[in-house]
Amino acid sequence: MLVRFATSRPEGAYTLALPIAAGAAPADRLPPSDSAARGIVRSAAEAARFEGETGATVDLFIPEGSGVRRLVLVGVGSGPDGHERAGAALVARLLTSGETRLVIDLTGIAVADPAEAAAKYASGAVLRSWRHDVYRTKLAPKARPSLTEIVIVGGGEGAEAAWSRLEAVAAGVAFTRELVAEPANIIYPESFVERCEALTALGVKIEALDEAAMREAGMGALLGVSQGSAREARLLVMRWDGSDGTKDPVAFVGKGVTFDTGGISIKPAAGMEDMKWDMGGAGAVAGAMKALAMRKSKAHVIGVCALVENMPGGNAQRPGDVVTSMSGQTIEVINTDAEGRLVLCDAITWVQRRYKPRTIIDLATLTGAMIIALGHEHGGLFSNSDELADQLLAAGKASGDALWRLPMGDAYDKLIESPIADMKNVGPRDAGSISAAQFILRFVEEGVNWAHLDIAGMVWAAKPGPLWDKGATGYGVRLLDRFAADNLEG
Ligand code: BES
Ligand code: MN
Ligand code: ZN
Repeated sequence: MLVRFATSRPEGAYTLALPIAAGAAPADRLPPSDSAARGIVRSAAEAARFEGETGATVDLFIPEGSGVRRLVLVGVGSGPDGHERAGAALVARLLTSGETRLVIDLTGIAVADPAEAAAKYASGAVLRSWRHDVYRTKLAPKARPSLTEIVIVGGGEGAEAAWSRLEAVAAGVAFTRELVAEPANIIYPESFVERCEALTALGVKIEALDEAAMREAGMGALLGVSQGSAREARLLVMRWDGSDGTKDPVAFVGKGVTFDTGGISIKPAAGMEDMKWDMGGAGAVAGAMKALAMRKSKAHVIGVCALVENMPGGNAQRPGDVVTSMSGQTIEVINTDAEGRLVLCDAITWVQRRYKPRTIIDLATLTGAMIIALGHEHGGLFSNSDELADQLLAAGKASGDALWRLPMGDAYDKLIESPIADMKNVGPRDAGSISAAQFILRFVEEGVNWAHLDIAGMVWAAKPGPLWDKGATGYGVRLLDRFAADNLEG
């Protein structure tokens, strides 16, 4: 999508979009002299019961010269995120409409910061236009995207600059969505690393440990998950230091199970294809690194992706196996389908030993129980630090990637005691998301502020949302970007 900013409406053919605040009269956006068009707009809005609600749209045609022009009224509501959602709603409406060019005219509506508002339209439009059509060789012409250009009028001087920041975030979201949407025969540990190698062009330093290096480091828990797969595991480490060595690093750690069959504790066939997106945590970390590097964030961040495929097979680990993690703690693997925590624990130990971060945030599609608890509206947040938890909750609200905090404590920790090893990898069904978090906490070293985001319900959408089509959402990128901007750049 080509995005441009302008001071006045261009010449020629295009669909004109007029943003309308909640309760405002849409006809007032047209010149008083143009009474015919004003009448049509008034009747169309009334007939459609349009009241400027966020993201609501009305399509109509008004006479112009000897022809007609397509006009879309779009509601911006009265809340703070109305512009972005309005930009997205316009694209949802027009992407495959046959229209190629959209002009959004902000002049004449009251906005506190026109440059920021203009950039938000661009952000909403670009985020909502993302699709993954690479494997569709027979898409009917009418189903193909037609919209290629968006011109935003009235953002003033600072619009380009405001957009360049949001554009970086949108590019990070798109990168995450691509990684998540790709099937598991295309994205597996090594190919995930290859796609991320493109980030070196932005100044991200990349390192990848192969299985030999991980064995050397003692990552028995991660390698136990990987041993049933023909694909080699990787630990991908991406480093962005925008502080020029003046700041301690913060670590983002992502669960990157490129396919989760469950292993020997195999999952049922129905819906198993969803487990291609069991690398959504790692995908979010990679997308966040891209966003931070593209906008030259002043933060110092280490992004670690624990990449494995969880398969059954003659060499797969068995229920009851005891593995030794890099931390030295032993784990009885009761259920090979509780593999996420096994790969995260070694990634967390590795990053603590190597980079001594004082803050670690892990993201993982860790438990089905999280979806039972929170559905698809919030990611689950678990933390040993009220301050970090509050920072993340605030970033969640501000970015739209919402979070909800859940409790932790010794009584939950007891649920994973094992009769043979230091712990087992599953507790009872009850509080399944919390006992998973307690498991990870056992690998967090003294003095480290840690948060775990269980994003199982957020990575993939069965139906379109305000800023995404059905499929990969890119959840987590906007959250981590906001968290970094508000807490790591001062
Ligand atoms: N990747 C799954 C969790 C998941 C399930 C994410 C559905 C998204 C949608 C995870 O590895 C898993 O299998 N968890 C088990 C844990 C159980 C064995 C304790 C689960 O949630 O059933
Ligand atoms: Mn699993
Ligand atoms: Zn999994």
